[in-house]
Amino acid sequence: MVEFLATPRDAADARAEVDSFGASRVPLAGALRAFLVADDEDPDPHEARDELAALVRKHVELGQGVLVLTGFPLDDERNKTALVRFTSLLGEPLPQDGEGNLVREVRDRGTAIGEGARARYSDSRFGGSLHTDGAEAPLPAPEFFTLLCVRQSVRGGALEFVHIRDLEAALAASGDATAALREPFHFDRRGDQAPGEPPTTLKPVLFTQHGKPAISYLRGYIERGHEHPGIPPLTERQRTALDELDRIVAAGGLTRAGKLREGELALFDNLSLLHGRTEFQDEPDRTRLLLRTWVRGRSAVCG
Ligand SMILES: [Fe+2]
Repeated sequence: MVEFLATPRDAADARAEVDSFGASRVPLAGALRAFLVADDEDPDPHEARDELAALVRKHVELGQGVLVLTGFPLDDERNKTALVRFTSLLGEPLPQDGEGNLVREVRDRGTAIGEGARARYSDSRFGGSLHTDGAEAPLPAPEFFTLLCVRQSVRGGALEFVHIRDLEAALAASGDATAALREPFHFDRRGDQAPGEPPTTLKPVLFTQHGKPAISYLRGYIERGHEHPGIPPLTERQRTALDELDRIVAAGGLTRAGKLREGELALFDNLSLLHGRTEFQDEPDRTRLLLRTWVRGRSAVCG
């Protein structure tokens, strides 16, 4: 059973009222806008890529790890085209499941906590359980993920994130935890493995990718991974380190939050950020919908 650990509701809602996206919001303009909304089938990406590289450097690499572009077209077809083009500027889109989907709809599919061997956070409406995307996949981890907000929930649905800079500083005061988290854990594959492949992938929580500190994490997938027959259970040392990481995150002092508005596209540094959201509730006639891509991307914009 995979448990998506809940963040205490009141604390999460209170944090979500502080909008940390403000400084990361940039209106979509110039060559970048022209490229993303161009009517021609194959617009020239060069100027747009340069503009995006400067924004990524400022907001994602050197800033809080997030860039939010505002003013996207809200028409369904143009949204999807713009997202695919945006992703192509960053690098290579990655399949997000065993079926090979490159653009995934993040919405409440009624997945309940603890349900099924393939239940995913992104298919539920629940909050908490800060994580990285692709935690179920072998390394290298996707460098970025994007979320384009097509429809936002009225209640809940704010994004929360914690930067690895802050996390590592807090963990440094916790004795052996950092060393234990740099050793491998079994992460459950959520059924995405090819026939004959093992149901877990072995990788550390804290590691280095492209020479920078990186994290891959979703507690429930690690718990499930170590429950498979033939896989050793978590050791006391491993469990203590994971508990310490969860304790630091749950304390909330390192967490920033913001709620995407419709027509906004967020780019997240998936190596540097744990992220999650506050629980949301769809209205009967209005359902929250985000479009997501995963990107293998450092070379394209970051040199
Ligand atoms: Fe996620």
